[in-house]
Amino acid sequence: LSAPFKELPPKYFYDERGSQLFERITELPEYYPTRAERAILDARAREIVDVAGTSMLIELGSGSAAKTRCLFDAMRDADALEAYVPVDISEEITRETATRLSGEYDGLRVHGVVCDYETHLERIPREPGGLIAFLGGTIGNFHPQVRRSFLARIASLMYPEDRFLLGTDLVKDRTRLEAAYNDSAGVTAEFNRNVLFVLNRELGADFDPAAFAHRAFWDEVNWWIDVRLRSLSDQTVTIPAIDMEVEFAEREEMRTEISAKFTREQLEEIYAEVGLELVEWWTDQDGLFALSLARSV
Ligand code: AVJ
Repeated sequence: LSAPFKELPPKYFYDERGSQLFERITELPEYYPTRAERAILDARAREIVDVAGTSMLIELGSGSAAKTRCLFDAMRDADALEAYVPVDISEEITRETATRLSGEYDGLRVHGVVCDYETHLERIPREPGGLIAFLGGTIGNFHPQVRRSFLARIASLMYPEDRFLLGTDLVKDRTRLEAAYNDSAGVTAEFNRNVLFVLNRELGADFDPAAFAHRAFWDEVNWWIDVRLRSLSDQTVTIPAIDMEVEFAEREEMRTEISAKFTREQLEEIYAEVGLELVEWWTDQDGLFALSLARSV
C-alpha cells in the first residue's frame, strides 16, 4: 500500500465471507472456468490417472476437496489409490477434509498438511509416485516471476515418477473474459471489495468499502485479467495495526488481483524454463480451460 501503484495479494480475499462469495462466483452464468474444469475432470479423470501412473494424490489448495473426488474415484477404480495429501492454509478445513476422506475410502492413507504452499512447499511429505495437483486456475494469480520460482520449486521437489497436474484458464476473446469478471449480479464486485472488510477486521483499518468501485479488464499485453478497486473520492484510510495512513486520490486504482490466462504454446515455454515438460493436455469441448500433465526433466 505504500508503493506508488498500490497492490494487495489476492490471497487475502479468502476469509469465511470471501470464500462463500467465491463459491457463488463459480455458479454465475458468466464465470465459466469452474464448470469447464469440472467438465474436463468428469470426462477425463480415468485417462489422467492412467497417463499419470501415480498412486498418491497431493493437492495444493485442497479446500473441501470437491473437485478431487473425480480423480479420487478414478484412482480407486484403477486400483491405484494409496495416499492423499491435502495441502491448505486453513487448518479447520484440512482436518475436516482429511478426516472425512479417510473415513470414506477404505485403507487410504491421508496426511493433511497445513501451510501456505506459496512459501512452504518443502513441508509436503514426498515419496516417489505422487501426482501433485494444482487446480482451479489459481496459478493465474501469481505474477510471472513468482509463478516461475513456484513452478521451479515444484519441479525441483519432484521425483522422476511424479507428475504435476495444473489447471489453467485459456486466452480467449475479450468479451467472454471480461464478462466472467464483471458479472451482472455484482458478486465479483462484492468479492473484490471483501478484501477491504478483511483489512478492517484483521488490522483495524477503516476502509469504507462503498467508497471503492470494482473494475476488471483484459490486459492484452500481459495476458491477464487485471482486477482493481477504484477510489471514488479523495480519501485517507488509517491502518492502526501497521501504523499506517494511506491516501487515495479520487479515481486512483489499487490492484487486488491478476488472473493470467494461457495458451498451450506459452505453457510449454514456461514449463521449459522451470525444468518441467508437458506430457499431456486436455481441454473442455469449447476450449475454455485446460488441464495439463507435466513431468520434471
Ligand atoms: C480462484 C483464482 C481461479 O482468478 O478466476 C474469480 C478468483 N477472482 N473472480 C480467478 C476470482 C475473481 C479465481 N481463482
